[in-house]
Amino acid sequence: MRILLTGSSGWLGSALAPRLRALGHDVTGLDPVPSRETQIVGSIADRDLVLRTARDNRIEAIIHSGALHKPNIENRANSDFVATNVQGTLNLLDAAVVSGVERFVFTSTTSLMISQAIRDGFKGGARKAAWLTEAMSPEPRNIYGVTKLSAEHLCRLYHIQHGLPVVVLRTARFFPEADDMAHAIEQSDANTKANELLFRRLTVEDAAAAHILALEKAQQLGFDIFIVSAPTPFRPDDCAALIADAPSVVARYFPEFPALYARKSWTMFASIDRVYDASRASDRLGFVCRTSFADVLAELRAEVGTA
Ligand SMILES: NC(=O)c1ccc[n+]([C@@H]2O[C@H](COP(=O)([O-])OP(=O)(O)OC[C@H]3O[C@@H](n4cnc5c(N)ncnc54)[C@H](O)[C@@H]3O)[C@@H](O)[C@H]2O)c1
Repeated sequence: MRILLTGSSGWLGSALAPRLRALGHDVTGLDPVPSRETQIVGSIADRDLVLRTARDNRIEAIIHSGALHKPNIENRANSDFVATNVQGTLNLLDAAVVSGVERFVFTSTTSLMISQAIRDGFKGGARKAAWLTEAMSPEPRNIYGVTKLSAEHLCRLYHIQHGLPVVVLRTARFFPEADDMAHAIEQSDANTKANELLFRRLTVEDAAAAHILALEKAQQLGFDIFIVSAPTPFRPDDCAALIADAPSVVARYFPEFPALYARKSWTMFASIDRVYDASRASDRLGFVCRTSFADVLAELRAEVGTA
């Protein structure tokens, strides 16, 4: 397939482009930042460029991952977010319709599901963790979430009005940087990331794999939205215990975890405040993460075996 990939110089884009090429696809990367995966250095906010790129390259599919995102909130104006995330997405959808593109995958974010009320609940000692599924009506708390949700709505509209097959992936965190969140384990970023695989993270390799599956299934699905995160072992009736005493809940599902963690001097978060339930992606998209918390434990077990 001839694919237009936006955000091709980014963390996800540069993981995704080589995988697509290895599958035999012809990938045109578009990003304002030059890189080896980017053939067109430019912005999705440049409507003429987007329309021309889709037409001249006879694009058959668009994977739209380019965006201003959470780290940009500090240094970019709200109008930049709207220009890139909303107008940029609209430009791509228009280009898709005009050029007869047959499938469209949009990288969205689980972050848009965290409202101010949910956030305040976390800070103020909520009695239950929030159980988050695609069925909830999001009320995003910042410009990033607002513009990503607006872009999702545009995707839905273009599916309804033009029959464009679109899959929206509300992706959980996969960034490689150390976490600046209050819950981060200072001593070990690997420890923090392992813990997060229980409820709010996946690897960039798994994120890339989800995009490829979405591309393959878009026509069959028509329009759909999926949370994409490593599979959680938790269930909704764990939510109160997750706030009160997360390590006990984790130990219930993984009895060997305390001993394996102790050998590494790792710790579990005392409290877990949210769970992204990715079961719809597993049921309808057929997506299975290669790396889950259980896999991390298996690695720790293997280390014990070789020590
Ligand atoms: N990193 C995460 O944990 C995470 C979590 C959820 C969703 N996402 C989403 O995944 C996507 C990729 O994120 P990432 O982590 O690879 O971030 P990244 O910053 O590494 O990559 C984003 C890319 O988009 C490009 N971009 C910015 N403005 C653009 C424009 N006007 N036109 C075209 N491209 C533009 C940037 O130059 C960059 O290369 C984004 O849509 C982001 O919202 C990321």
